[in-house]
Amino acid sequence: MLAYHQAPPYWAPMRFFVTAPLFGVLAGLTLAIYGRDMLAQRWDPVTLAVTHLLALGFLTMTMFGALLQLVSVLLAVQPPWVTRVAAFTHAALTAGTLALAAGLAHDLPWLLHAAQALLAGAIAAFVTSIAIALTRSAARSPTLRGIALSLDALVFTAILGLLLAHALARGLELPVVKLTGMHAGWGLAGWVFALVASVAYQVVPMFQFTPPFPARLQRTLVPGVFAALLAWTIAGSIDSPWAEHLASACELLAALALIAFAATTFGLQRRRRRRAPDATLEFWALGAASLAGAGLASLAAQVWQEWREHAAYPLLLGTLMLAGFGMSVVCGMLYKIAPFLTWLHLQRTTQGRASSYARGVVPDKSARRHARVHAVAIALLVAALVVPVLARPAGVLLAVSAALLAANLYPLVKAYRAGQSA
Ligand code: HEM
Repeated sequence: MLAYHQAPPYWAPMRFFVTAPLFGVLAGLTLAIYGRDMLAQRWDPVTLAVTHLLALGFLTMTMFGALLQLVSVLLAVQPPWVTRVAAFTHAALTAGTLALAAGLAHDLPWLLHAAQALLAGAIAAFVTSIAIALTRSAARSPTLRGIALSLDALVFTAILGLLLAHALARGLELPVVKLTGMHAGWGLAGWVFALVASVAYQVVPMFQFTPPFPARLQRTLVPGVFAALLAWTIAGSIDSPWAEHLASACELLAALALIAFAATTFGLQRRRRRRAPDATLEFWALGAASLAGAGLASLAAQVWQEWREHAAYPLLLGTLMLAGFGMSVVCGMLYKIAPFLTWLHLQRTTQGRASSYARGVVPDKSARRHARVHAVAIALLVAALVVPVLARPAGVLLAVSAALLAANLYPLVKAYRAGQSA
């Protein structure tokens, strides 16, 4: 049962949703400007900057907004201090991501220090508020348990990220390659994938008119990935042949989990009740295909040593997980959540008088056009890993994709304002 009367104020989630596309545009333009070599090397400073413009500026940004909304209606209670937490987290995440990206790209220690303080503050405030809401409520479900685990993963990702940033800023001697691998693993599998999967149990059947995800998958998938990540981290910290075997087994399990989720999503989409074309459906199909690609790439790395050590392997995983999977499913969700939020709040604040202002503002046709542009952007990003001249056009298309999202979402804010003053 979803308690919509407990939804937080309009701007609490919406400020995150309208900011994220700007980070998408910035990531695309950075790639378009610096282009060429940056997709050839995982340690390239500008590659690391673009990675975080997408991971923090686009994905964590929208996921924070969506969580404020979802946790409130699932628990029937708003997270404590929701308006202030939203305003502070949004400002600190925005400034912290810009500082981190610029600090990484130009190797500026003072900006890395500023980013550390801002991002630590943003993540601590947000996670504390949601954790209090979760512990205060007796409600339990695979979605809520998955949200709690993915927030744990975010905290662990952030601790490792802050440590890495500290090492870069101060020039400390740390096992950087190992720690960066762990940081990326927890960020991509523990935060992005686990959260999307947990939220999907609620939103895929609701938005795409599919049957529910199988109960056993809901119970085991995210806790399984979390356990595999824990065992992988412990094994990665021990120097012995059996620990290496354990780490490979964990990677295999995680790859199978990604493929299982992608295959289940496709299966559910095929059995949906409503057959009309729909942008959310297309974005989720694109996301599931990218996720399956990431799972297969990781599976191949378990049996093929040369591929495991190939420069393109970590870049392909990052591209497919961030731009392919994360961005696609988030766009798909935003096209349902943002119009609904606008309608709900107009309904509430104008006693229904102006709720029609939100209707038809985002035409499905332009959202589907966006899905196709995004699909081409992903294809070009992947192709650029082997044909570097494609990096610049890939960046341009990524920026166009994010700009289309902005162009489709911003009229909702205009409609909300018009409805308020009607
Ligand atoms: C507090 C937030 C974060 C900070 C301070 C941070 C910092 C860093 C730093 C400093 C590096 C570069 C390591 C080096 O070159 O030595 C890095 C790499 C990376 N980070 Fe983050 N990060 C944060 C959050 C995230 C999140 C949420 C994700 C994913 C969702 C993520 C994904 C990655 C990836 C994929 C790499 C590249 C790893 C590779 O090339 O294999 N980061 N991060």
